[in-house]
Amino acid sequence: MKLRTTLLATAVLLAPFGAMAAGAQGKTVGFSQIGSESGWRAAETTVTKQQAEERGIDLKFADAQQKQENQIKALRGFIAQGVDAILLAPVVATGWDEVLEEAKDADIPVILLDRKVDAPDDLYMTAVTSDTVYEGEVAGKWLVDHEAGKDCRVVELQGTTGSSPAIDRKAGFEKAIADAPNITIVRSQTGDFTRAQGKVVMESFLKAEGAANICALYAHNDDMAVGAIQAIKEAGVKPGEDIVVVAIDAVPDMHLAMSNGEANATVELTPNMAGPAFDALEAYWTEGTMPPKWIQTESKLYTVADDNKAIYDMKKSLGY
Ligand code: AHR
Repeated sequence: MKLRTTLLATAVLLAPFGAMAAGAQGKTVGFSQIGSESGWRAAETTVTKQQAEERGIDLKFADAQQKQENQIKALRGFIAQGVDAILLAPVVATGWDEVLEEAKDADIPVILLDRKVDAPDDLYMTAVTSDTVYEGEVAGKWLVDHEAGKDCRVVELQGTTGSSPAIDRKAGFEKAIADAPNITIVRSQTGDFTRAQGKVVMESFLKAEGAANICALYAHNDDMAVGAIQAIKEAGVKPGEDIVVVAIDAVPDMHLAMSNGEANATVELTPNMAGPAFDALEAYWTEGTMPPKWIQTESKLYTVADDNKAIYDMKKSLGY
C-alpha cells in the first residue's frame, strides 16, 4: 500500500499536464498549422498526418491561412473539444500567452512545432525546432567562404515578419558575415516565405540595384529563392553563376535548382517535426516523463557538390 502511494505521488509529480494513459493509440491531437505558404510547410503537413495515422492518433487538423487569430480560435476549439494534446506551429512569436494559459488550465499539453514563441516556457510542454539562428549562420559562413576576398553585395529575402525563423535566420546570417567586410547586405525585405512574393521582391531588388550590382541572394527559405530564381532568369542573368543563391529548407525544388546549376547551397530543415513530438507525448502518456523544453532537429548543409538529382528523387518519393 505504501509503495503504491509512493508510485502514485511520483506519477503526479512527473505528470503536471494531467493523467497518464497507455501509448498514443486512440488519442486525439489537435494540430494548428500555419497554412501552406511553402513546399516545406506542405511537406510538414503531409508528414504529420502520416505520423498520426501510423500511431493510431486521431489528428484534428486546422489550417490557419497564415493568420494568428485563426490559430487562437483553433486552439480554443481544441480545448473545448477536450483533445489529449495540441501541436502548434505558431505563425508569429508573440501574442500566445493567454491561449496557452487556457490550454494549461485545461491540462492539455501543447507542443510547438518548427517555430518558437515569446512566452514563459511553463506554458508549453516542449518545442520541436531546429536552431534557426545556426541555420542563418551556416548559410552566412558558406557565403563567406564562397566569396572569400571578393566584394559581394547581397540581397536578402526575409521570411514572415515577426516569425521566429525570420528573426533568427537574419541574426545568424549577420553574425556569420560580421567579420567579412567584403560581404554587405544592400537590400533586405520580406517575401513572406512564399514563392510568389520571393519573385516580386527579387524583381524590385533587380530594378533598384541593377543585376550586375548584385553578387548573391540570401533567402530565408527555398520557396522564396525558387521564385527569385525565376525573376533572375527573366532579367536575363544566370542564377547560380551571375547571382549566387543560398537559402534554407532543402526542399526538392531547391535540390532540382542546384542540380541544374541555378542555385548554390541550402540548409536542411526536416519536415518531420511531428515524429519527435509524438514520441515525447507517447513517453509522457506511458511513463509520465516530461521531455526537455527543446527537442532540436538537425541542420545539414547541401551544396552543388552533392548528388542533388538523387536527393530530389528520394525526397519526392517520401512525399516532400
Ligand atoms: O518555420 C519554418 C519555416 O516556415 C520554413 O523554413 C519555411 O519554408 C516555412 O514557411
